[in-house]
Amino acid sequence: MRTTTPAMAVWNNREKIAASRSRLQALYEAVDWANDLDLYQWTQWFAIALEFQPDLIVELGRGMGNSTCVFTEAANQLGDCRVVSLCLSPDWDATVKHRVAQVVPDSWFQKLETRTEEILTTDVQALIGDSQRVLVLWDAHGFDMAEFVLGGLLPTLEHRHSFVVMHDISDGRYSRINPSYQGKRLWRGTREGFNREGHSRLYLNYLDTAVEQTIAIVDFISRNGLTLESADHSLQTELSSERISELQNSLEAKFFRLDGHWFYFSLNEKTKGEEIYFPNFQSEIVIQERQARSHVDNDHAQVEQLQGEVNHLKTLLAQAQADTGMANLLKKAWRKYKAFRSR
Ligand SMILES: C[S@@+](CC[C@H](N)C(=O)[O-])C[C@H]1O[C@@H](n2cnc3c(N)ncnc32)[C@H](O)[C@@H]1O
Repeated sequence: MRTTTPAMAVWNNREKIAASRSRLQALYEAVDWANDLDLYQWTQWFAIALEFQPDLIVELGRGMGNSTCVFTEAANQLGDCRVVSLCLSPDWDATVKHRVAQVVPDSWFQKLETRTEEILTTDVQALIGDSQRVLVLWDAHGFDMAEFVLGGLLPTLEHRHSFVVMHDISDGRYSRINPSYQGKRLWRGTREGFNREGHSRLYLNYLDTAVEQTIAIVDFISRNGLTLESADHSLQTELSSERISELQNSLEAKFFRLDGHWFYFSLNEKTKGEEIYFPNFQSEIVIQERQARSHVDNDHAQVEQLQGEVNHLKTLLAQAQADTGMANLLKKAWRKYKAFRSR
């Protein structure tokens, strides 16, 4: 089995991609949520799945279902592959699934199991079962999720073939980064109640991100001497200019670009017997801590709201004081006027 990289995946599967364009486009339009994944990224993930040939694709974070559709289409084409999609969001069932059903046959859904549930409490042994080639899409964010993936899910994959795709990290070597803080404060995470607009993005060397798990990923990769690579780097360094021209000619620009804004790694880079270090993950503890944090966040939000109200009252008071001053001046002027008239 050849090593999977985004560039080689796109190149080796260019004919299948070309043949699948109208299906991908129809699904993309049915999902109608390019915010989370654009069409050229659909093509890249579709190619990765065709190239890696998983028997199981685990989707962590379905949202509106871009990746759900990409991977289910790939699973349908691969045949011996199924997708398990885990997410709290009800959007797929509520709004997207029936639109997708207009563009695919009913049998298409047989490859897909969507679960609307908390990922952190997933029984990973049952999830993975006896699957041997597992493609993981890591598209749900935060340190809790990172602890689940790195400490809960990945140990189960240690002795199987695995490939992990991570969204929401751009490669500053290939995308234009504005190094300026633009007058904003330091990046401090994405916890609720936090004014993200007022804070800059996080740059870790050339990793350009706004999501916490990037820190946990770099930590994990560094400890284990694994390679964390970007789709952009693969696409921009592994394809000759002739191949790029051929891809540009055979695929329209909306299906093929040299940027990806996602990273990947595989545990299989380690040779058999080499130890891999995983963090401890205990779902009950993580959930308890999250509940405690959410109480603190609520208190914080209430304090902020009260502070806002106090500021508003202060403004009203200052206005009232100014109005009283004006009224006193008018009274004084009126008294002077009356005195003047009565002379
Ligand atoms: C960025 S969206 C996923 C986008 C999707 N992969 C796509 O391509 O359209 C992230 C999703 O992860 C879900 N999520 C985050 N943390 C979660 C958790 N602990 N359990 C379940 N779902 C979670 C959110 O509800 C959100 O819908």
